[in-house]
Amino acid sequence: MTDPAVSAEPPVSLRELRARAEEVVTPEAWEYLETGAGAEVSLGEAESAWQRWRFRPYVLRDVAQISTSCRLLGHDLATPVLVAPTAYHEPYHPTAELGTAEGVRDAGSLLCLSTRSSRTVERVAEHAGPWWLQVYVMTDRDITEAMVDRAVAAGASALVLTGDTPYVSRRARGTALPLQDEVALVNVQQHLAGRTWSSLEQDPRVTYADIEWLASRSGLPVLVKGVLRADEARACVTAGAAGVVVSNHGARQLDRVVPTALALPEVARAVADQVPVLVDGGIRSGHDVATALALGADAVLVGRPTMYALATGGAPGVTAMLRALTAQLAEAMGLLGISSLAGFDRSLVEDITHARG
Ligand SMILES: Cc1cc2nc3c(=O)[nH]c(=O)nc-3n(C[C@H](O)[C@H](O)[C@H](O)COP(=O)(O)O)c2cc1C
Repeated sequence: MTDPAVSAEPPVSLRELRARAEEVVTPEAWEYLETGAGAEVSLGEAESAWQRWRFRPYVLRDVAQISTSCRLLGHDLATPVLVAPTAYHEPYHPTAELGTAEGVRDAGSLLCLSTRSSRTVERVAEHAGPWWLQVYVMTDRDITEAMVDRAVAAGASALVLTGDTPYVSRRARGTALPLQDEVALVNVQQHLAGRTWSSLEQDPRVTYADIEWLASRSGLPVLVKGVLRADEARACVTAGAAGVVVSNHGARQLDRVVPTALALPEVARAVADQVPVLVDGGIRSGHDVATALALGADAVLVGRPTMYALATGGAPGVTAMLRALTAQLAEAMGLLGISSLAGFDRSLVEDITHARG
């Protein structure tokens, strides 16, 4: 019924995976992963917001062959389920980002690597399939440029500028990730000579102009991550963005921010005909992925589920998790009456709170 790489996989429940991960990681690392900002209102809404949508499937369509293959900024991927940038994988598995990269590669997916990784971009690149670098613009622009240059040389194919983190927000829990300095600084240590630690902090002066700065410095497409409004999405595209990621940073920045499942439709309406629109936040099943694609996303990203999979199964665990989500997506597509990602359209979902009787 589906791509052979997808259909052979046993089902993986993300709920089970999460429970197993909690058992194997330290309490400090677990809290760092699970925390949200403020009173965690947005964290509590992220997953359930996807369930506000209901499907309106087609019937009597030929769905004997289903393909989840996805073309995105020049890459042919087996799945539209990509991996979101999350900081410091070392506390979750000894292979750290190298394991994540291999797992993503073997699933035919794409890795967005965090600026704050616990392995160097050069080493991760050796283990990766297609990958993008997520960029935090640091107060020291020379260090930011040096990292971008190294990522380009190592084979990154796009940059993802995170726009929602001018400051790191306060969190009530999970602030003490146990990490030695040499691991935390592995990507930037070589550029630090004579500079203070504050040069590594996020620069709150970042503006739309920095999209063009990063694009011209790198020669790569630049996507903006953290977009939650149609007007902002349009402004990013006008400023040269090659894509937008609808994201609220896993509910770790501004609390009470809108769930991405509700922000996605207006952003997709505004710019999806010009650039790829991606979305992350609370995506935990193939039904969530299908909903996002019907609402206009070209692909989705998963953050915490990747870490559950890495912690419990290393690289093969990451591959299995991505394949399981993709298999669930393929099954949902068959039952929706569509056989390729091009078949998704806005009429396939309805907001249950507006449903007519
Ligand atoms: C532990 C953790 C670390 C993160 N680190 C980063 C980061 O370094 N850069 C970034 O842009 N987003 C970061 N994020 C946000 C993710 O990229 C993504 O937006 C979010 O995790 C998606 O939600 P999900 O975890 O529900 O899938 C982080 C999220 C988590 C959970």
